[in-house]
Amino acid sequence: MSEPVVAQKSPIAVDVETGKSYWWCACGMSKKQPFCDGSHKGSAFSPLKYDAEATKKVFFCACKHTGKSPLCDGSHNRV
Ligand code: FES
Repeated sequence: MSEPVVAQKSPIAVDVETGKSYWWCACGMSKKQPFCDGSHKGSAFSPLKYDAEATKKVFFCACKHTGKSPLCDGSHNRV
């Protein structure tokens, strides 16, 4: 498997908190989107750490084809 699974074709909004770290699912197989639940085991993918620098709402990519991982860049319109 070299292509990530499209978990959904729209981003997932999350309220992140300053100083907290989040592990974004890169493979698309997690059942806890947009975050990693360990389902990538045995695949070519591993989660990506996101360190929140501000308390705000961010839009995590759920199609897993973003060019700005882990955040949405609109790529879901092309998958
Ligand atoms: Fe997808 Fe961990 S479950 S990267």
